[in-house]
Amino acid sequence: MPTIQQNFTVSYSYPVIFTREVFDPDNPDLAETLRLSGRSRNRALVVIDSEVLRTTPDLLQKISRYGERHASLLEFVVQPFSVRGGETCKHEPFEVEQIQALVERYKICRHSFIIAIGGGAVLDAAGYAAATSHRGVRLIRLPTTVLSQNDAGVGVKNGVNAFGRKNFLGTFAPPFAVINDSAFLATLTERDLRAGIAEAIKVALIRDRHFFDSMYAARAELARFAPRVMESMIFRCAEMHLEHIATGGDPFECGSSRPLDFGHWSAHKLEELSAGELKHGEAVAIGIALDSMYSYQTGLLGDLDLRRILTLLDDVGFTLYHPALSWLDVTRALADFQEHLGGELSIPLLTAIGMKTEAHVIDVALMQRCVSKLSEREERKKTMNGMNTVTVGTCERKQNMP
Ligand SMILES: NC(=O)c1ccc[n+]([C@@H]2O[C@H](COP(=O)([O-])OP(=O)(O)OC[C@H]3O[C@@H](n4cnc5c(N)ncnc54)[C@H](O)[C@@H]3O)[C@@H](O)[C@H]2O)c1
Ligand SMILES: [Zn+2]
Repeated sequence: MPTIQQNFTVSYSYPVIFTREVFDPDNPDLAETLRLSGRSRNRALVVIDSEVLRTTPDLLQKISRYGERHASLLEFVVQPFSVRGGETCKHEPFEVEQIQALVERYKICRHSFIIAIGGGAVLDAAGYAAATSHRGVRLIRLPTTVLSQNDAGVGVKNGVNAFGRKNFLGTFAPPFAVINDSAFLATLTERDLRAGIAEAIKVALIRDRHFFDSMYAARAELARFAPRVMESMIFRCAEMHLEHIATGGDPFECGSSRPLDFGHWSAHKLEELSAGELKHGEAVAIGIALDSMYSYQTGLLGDLDLRRILTLLDDVGFTLYHPALSWLDVTRALADFQEHLGGELSIPLLTAIGMKTEAHVIDVALMQRCVSKLSEREERKKTMNGMNTVTVGTCERKQNMP
């Protein structure tokens, strides 16, 4: 029998806009984004992270005023829907089902919009609901955390957790647009401000030594979340993620390697094992430390580079150990990571700051020793911090300990 070889190419393009006060009626960014639809009037369902609503009580009023000012272009079909912020909305099916039900009830079609406002978790859940309703409703993401503005919110993936596994269900679905509003960051906790810096360190380590050097030089400002330094870190990190998706040759991750997931094989497990106590970025910081340590132990990475990586992570304020690390089953975690990607095992490791290689075999015993080293290092740090407090109460820095 003959075979018909089907072949076509789809090209994607979407803007990632950096702005401030997106719902100021005079801010043109959202209105201009909607105009890209080519329609004179655009129907939209807004979904918002519950924490964003709680910490910005006048947000609903601002959105409503924005709608009134742009009524000829934009119709909000119903009051914004509040989605429980954080991992809860990815663990439990309630929110995704509700968003899908709202799409059905308010006749949101494939030319209408879901406007999702929130952290990476809410954007992942809302994105999954958007991608699966009518096989894909247009999605505008308004990321509200550092991590979602520089990583989770700018890419092409969404997903929810299932069967106790992170991101087990999900799709590749590029958004219609992303609008990064820096004003949202003002209400974040220190932990969430810090968590997003881990992804920037990650992307710098695998792709851009200069970016790493600039963060290293500005580590004191990063540690106090100085807005100017944070904004340029977010911009460069988002830019690098976008560059990778566009030019890396595998935007929908069909291959076995996923270089942007440096440090992530253990990070995903640590999030699961700590039952959500560790935030994604905090787990990534530990994962980066672990895989950098392993890169050094295997002779790939130099001593000085390792010291600088650990110093940057320490100085920004990350804790590079968590009890969940002691429960980490390295073999199982690597197998799960491999299964999630498909194909052969491929773990990004560092050969220098800014350069990576892919390892297809991991020495499990050596990796376990690296886990122990991180634990010992943390103990030494605690002891030294205690000593510093007693002896030199104002001592600014501890020694660097690889
Ligand atoms: N799709 C992807 O490509 C991708 C990539 C990386 C990470 N992720 C996912 O992103 C999630 C992590 O995202 P995150 O780091 O943004 O955390 P998050 O979404 O869990 O948000 C952290 C906390 O901050 C709250 N919050 C959000 N914005 C706020 C604001 N402006 N002010 C005050 N509180 C606010 C949230 O309600 C939550 O409690 C994980 O589920 C991870 O798996 C997805
Ligand atoms: Zn990540």
